Amino acid sequence: MVFQWSKQLSVGVEQIDEQHKELFHRISRLIESSQEDASLAFVFEFLEKYVEVHFALEETYMERYDYPKLSDHENEHTIFWENYAEIRQAYNDSGVTEELTARIKEHLCDWLVKHILKVDMELGNFLKTKL
Ligand SMILES: [Fe+2]
Repeated sequence: MVFQWSKQLSVGVEQIDEQHKELFHRISRLIESSQEDASLAFVFEFLEKYVEVHFALEETYMERYDYPKLSDHENEHTIFWENYAEIRQAYNDSGVTEELTARIKEHLCDWLVKHILKVDMELGNFLKTKL
């Protein structure tokens, strides 16, 4: 499965776009490792650290510029962490299974694309008027 960033996902703020590209890269690494049945713990951590950095950047911008939809956007990030915690737990409990792969696709890949296209795009449009 190819999971790649594309231009239509650009939110118009370079720093956020660059971080989104890196997230796609790290999620791809996770998918590849799960296919090889390699130890995923390292790759999970590799992804997790970057998600922290990335959400923190968006949240810093939202606070700095008094973004009106800040709490909705933060709730979305919280939902991501909840789903992510379930995925990690499922991996810890059962290793690589079909269910784990399906959850990665739904809660990491599909979630990220949907999130960028809707809430990050709105945030990008707002930030473009401020930065
Ligand atoms: Fe976001």
